[in-house]
Amino acid sequence: MTTKQGGGIEVRPVAGYIGAEITGVDLADGLDEAQVAVVRAAVLRWKVVFFRGQRLDHEGQVRFARRFGEPVVLRRRGSASPAGHPEIETTADRLELGGRYGMEHDEWLRRRRHIPLRGWHCDHGARVDPPAATILRAETVPPYGGDTTWANLAAAYAGLSAPVRAFADGLRAEHRLGVGYQSRPGDDAYVRHLLDHQIATVHPLVRVHPETGERVLFVNGYYVEHIEDVSRAESRLLLELLLEQATRPEYTVRFHWEPGSVAFWDNRATIHLAPSDNAHLGHPRTMHRVMLAGDVPAGVDGRPSEALVGSAPGRW
Ligand SMILES: [Fe+2]
Repeated sequence: MTTKQGGGIEVRPVAGYIGAEITGVDLADGLDEAQVAVVRAAVLRWKVVFFRGQRLDHEGQVRFARRFGEPVVLRRRGSASPAGHPEIETTADRLELGGRYGMEHDEWLRRRRHIPLRGWHCDHGARVDPPAATILRAETVPPYGGDTTWANLAAAYAGLSAPVRAFADGLRAEHRLGVGYQSRPGDDAYVRHLLDHQIATVHPLVRVHPETGERVLFVNGYYVEHIEDVSRAESRLLLELLLEQATRPEYTVRFHWEPGSVAFWDNRATIHLAPSDNAHLGHPRTMHRVMLAGDVPAGVDGRPSEALVGSAPGRW
């Protein structure tokens, strides 16, 4: 299926439930209203869209992002911003991340992802108002490896049996930064960092998407601490079941980056898995990220998420 619209812009799905490649548009040129409408509809329908061979610079990426929302400016950045562009986070060298906490990046990643499902996340999901969308641009990428994978949480929800959907509809879960991190023996600088930067929120387990009205299975492996009002054992098994559902291969799409590639995803309806196969290859990987501000999620009953610590709506 291909959707052809004015100006030669084309939307071509790449997997059954998620992911579409958009061609026939030069993002650096600036988009007209019709092109913005096509891209917006494709993001909502396919959850993540890909552009290849783009020649965006920092200025151009921020200008493109502003057509779709308000870029977030982080008060405390995980990565550096290019001078004059506080809306952009640049991840220049994956080794820097672990290095900051006194360990190699590989070790840090291993401690964060000791089971495979742990790596799956939405961006800043422990906040009370996670970003609505993320726009990630590749500048330098390894010659092979380094792919990113996304999963469609609306499709995952729809794929559950009716009784389990109804059961999940009524639940809420605590999301917390640092869940599942396995600390080093003795002093661990990353644990100290986590304690200094606590962020936790109670989110509905099923959120209603503010634009599409779809129900979204709002789980991930990285932030979800436990499901509320059930026992620890019940919570663990339920989460395992729901995470397995969310990451079933049919609900995912995998993207291989090239210099000039841009991915634009709905951070409210997806989770993604950053690559962990390229950390040791010794090739640089420079990516530039802009996130768009998002709403406080609401459950099927309309009840909004509640901040426990470390975040307030619209305050970064
Ligand atoms: Fe991410």
